[in-house]
Amino acid sequence: MVDTLGFGLGLLFTLTVAVLHFSKGTSWRPGEDISDEVMEHRAASVPETSFPEPMNRSIGGGAVGGAIPGETDAEGELEAGDDGAGAADDSPAAIADDEAETFEVEFVKEGETIDVKENTTILEAGEDEGWDMPYACREGQCISCAGHITDGHAEEYVEHHTNQMLGEAELSDGYTLTCVAYPTADLSIETGESP
Ligand code: FES
Repeated sequence: MVDTLGFGLGLLFTLTVAVLHFSKGTSWRPGEDISDEVMEHRAASVPETSFPEPMNRSIGGGAVGGAIPGETDAEGELEAGDDGAGAADDSPAAIADDEAETFEVEFVKEGETIDVKENTTILEAGEDEGWDMPYACREGQCISCAGHITDGHAEEYVEHHTNQMLGEAELSDGYTLTCVAYPTADLSIETGESP
């Protein structure tokens, strides 16, 4: 009796599984991927900030001149250099390689001292060595790439091309934005240190 019942239940279960396995199921299909559309809509609806915020750009917000407006003249036009555009010529990066002076930069945490030309940022120099250097905007508008120059006031050792984050107090404590910092003297720096 028990064997017959067990056999019957087993057969029923097996048949149920077989029927479910070969059934066509529902006609549900995944919807169209609209994530790009949603992101574009969001980028268009988020107002630009009036302060440095690198993530603002990541969702389609302001570029350099948009997020941080420069000074305007009487006609309301941006003055040269204030919007980042046209400022490239003022950058130490414009110095020709064969004319650029070279300085010794000690990367304390990496345990190495390397030669860095005055037309190369501290960040680029570290990356060229294959080191994993922190950064985000690469435009002096966040603090991700900050480092600490152990020798004194940062601007006695580097020229910041577009520093929009560090004030005099931080600079005098030796903090620098490595993505826009070009060496002007031999220096030692601890990377990944922010004020
Ligand atoms: S990476 Fe943003 S300031 Fe250097």
